[in-house]
Parts: sequence; structure tokens; C-alpha cells
Amino acid sequence: MRSLRRLLKKSSLYPAYKALGHYPDYWYWLLRGKPTRIPHIMKQKTVLRFGRQYELRTLIETGTYYGEMVSGLKNDFARIVSIEFDSGLAAAAKRKFKNSPHIEVLQGSSELMVQQTLATLTEPALFWLDAGYFLWAGEHKTTDRLMTELDSIFRHGIPNHVVLVDDVVSWSGRDGTPEVTELEREIQRKYPERRITVESGLMCLRHAKYL
Ligand SMILES: C[S@@+](CC[C@H](N)C(=O)[O-])C[C@H]1O[C@@H](n2cnc3c(N)ncnc32)[C@H](O)[C@@H]1O
Repeated sequence: MRSLRRLLKKSSLYPAYKALGHYPDYWYWLLRGKPTRIPHIMKQKTVLRFGRQYELRTLIETGTYYGEMVSGLKNDFARIVSIEFDSGLAAAAKRKFKNSPHIEVLQGSSELMVQQTLATLTEPALFWLDAGYFLWAGEHKTTDRLMTELDSIFRHGIPNHVVLVDDVVSWSGRDGTPEVTELEREIQRKYPERRITVESGLMCLRHAKYL
């Protein structure tokens, strides 16, 4: 089964196969009584809910992968920037969204590209930070990259960006991941004006003045 999946992953059909799995994943999640780790459809709904609640017109994603978040929300934001390190995945996503001028796919490492993207912003944005910070193959097991991005966002001239960090529910201090509570403490020590909540396994960071 694993080798079949590995083979499929290399094929051009894999993105379609993944997208087809969204609803079965969702139904299976319902069947299991909605465990904390949510399926992709629920992540899309959560990102959209935050965008609407804070009236944010720009979505910035780190970690494009097969462009599933971008596809799911492409009609809900006026501008979408998605950042991908892997040149093959970035090229495929550029092709996929070539007819959508409001979508930009940037190839490069997220900590640098987030900084570059911030320089282009004139209004608050929603950040979906999902660039395999600890669990991705070959990633350094430190919080440095994520913290560098948060530093850039929180020190930016626009104070009310909203940040969602994916899948912190699986960060338990094992396999090189940080303890979520440790990370919260570190962020809170540096940025006491930010309110941190963990909802459905995602970390949400907002400026206390703009809740
Ligand atoms: C979990 S997937 C992203 C899923 C996607 N955000 C979604 O919601 O469908 C993680 C992605 O992060 C990318 N990635 C890993 N390290 C990165 C880095 N330093 N900068 C940007 N992207 C990176 C991986 O290549 C992979 O495509």
C-alpha cells in the first residue's frame, strides 16, 4: 500500500487523487467523533472564517504543496500569495493558477519570502503558516524559521495581521517538535500584546487591541 502511494505521489494524477480524498477524510473525521486534528476541508473553513471575521482581503500561505488551500479559497480573497520551497511543487502551482491574476506563487524559503511579501502589503492580511516547520523531511528541528516569520509579521508596520499556524496539535516535544505550551510562552514573552488561542489543533495569533 505504501509503495503504491509513493508511486502515485510521483504521478501527475496525485493532486487530483488528494483532492478527491477531502470529503472521505471529512466524513471519516465525523465518524470518529471529530477528533482534535481536523481534516483539510475544516482547515479551509477555519481560514475562511478568520478571513471573514477580520475582513481580511489578503491571504498569505507558507507551504503551497499541491495548492489545495489556494484552490479551496481562491474565490474568497482579493489577493493570495503562496510560498513554496520545493521548485517542482512551486512550478506546478504556478501552472495551476496561471489564469488567476490575483494568485501569486513564490518559490523560496518561507522566512525570506514572508519578509519580502510583507514589504508589498498596504492592509492587514491573514497568514496561514503551514510550511512543514518540524515534521517535513529534511527540516531543521528548531523553532527558528517559524519564529523568524512571526518576528517579521509582528514587527511589521501594520499591527493587526492575523496568524494561523497549522497542526500545532501534533507538536508534543517529540520527533524534534517543540512543546506547544513552550512555544506559546516564548511568543507571549516576546509579544505580550498578542492573544494566543489553540482551536481545532491550529494556533491563532491576534493583536489584543483588534480582537
Ligand atoms: C503541509 S504541506 C502544505 C499544505 C498546504 N498549505 C495546504 O494547506 O494544502 C507543507 C509544504 O511546505 C513546504 N516547505 C517545507 N519547507 C519549506 C520552506 N522552508 N519554505 C517554504 N515551504 C516549505 C513543503 O515542500 C510542503 O509543500
